[in-house]
Amino acid sequence: MGTKQWKTKWDQRYASGDFVFGREPNQFLKNQVHQLPLGKILCAGDGEGRNGVWLARQGYDVISIDYSEVGLAKAHLLAAEYDVKIRFIHAEILEFDLMDLKLDGVVNIYLHMTGTEIIRMHEKYRNAINPGGVLLAEVYSKEQLQYCSGGPKSIEALYDIEYFKRDFGDWNRLYLAQEIINLNEGNGHNGAASVVRVVLQKPQD
Ligand SMILES: C[S@@+](CC[C@H](N)C(=O)[O-])C[C@H]1O[C@@H](n2cnc3c(N)ncnc32)[C@H](O)[C@@H]1O
Repeated sequence: MGTKQWKTKWDQRYASGDFVFGREPNQFLKNQVHQLPLGKILCAGDGEGRNGVWLARQGYDVISIDYSEVGLAKAHLLAAEYDVKIRFIHAEILEFDLMDLKLDGVVNIYLHMTGTEIIRMHEKYRNAINPGGVLLAEVYSKEQLQYCSGGPKSIEALYDIEYFKRDFGDWNRLYLAQEIINLNEGNGHNGAASVVRVVLQKPQD
């Protein structure tokens, strides 16, 4: 499936009913938020905005990017409900120049890509994050194929912990593990799941 079809699929998914992944932030983000410098954070693939809005409520300067217009429209409403300001960007993240954003962190919660796209995306994060800044991620591992709690159904779109070691080998590992967790995130993510959890800090110059 190409980008256009995936984008349409997400639009359709978000158009039906309530918040697909709930309105509460991801639990790992909540647990690890103290590792994120209080500054400018990009929420990559932020969907309906549950994570971006929560971060903005904690005082972060949030930029939320997603290619689903329907997801972003719901994220706008959630931000308005909590009276927080977020910069929303409607774009395919691989096509968007992150360099000028000069980020203190990137939050990548269940934004999945394949092979060389992951390498390109990681390169963009490496360049856009300031020294001392942090990448925080939770993504499904390849073992997620054994579970039915959500996520991509193709092995290529699932993560190996080695991808982070390969692409961020020189960054400080504040948290890097593959874990079985119990997800309770709306109808979209529910039950036992195999995930890779990541908090990596770019070294100071
Ligand atoms: C599984 S959802 C997770 C949404 C959100 N991070 C959350 O945890 O609630 C993946 C999101 O990534 C977005 N997405 C996927 N690929 C993308 C891309 N290449 N550029 C921008 N957004 C993308 C989808 O539209 C969708 O909103």
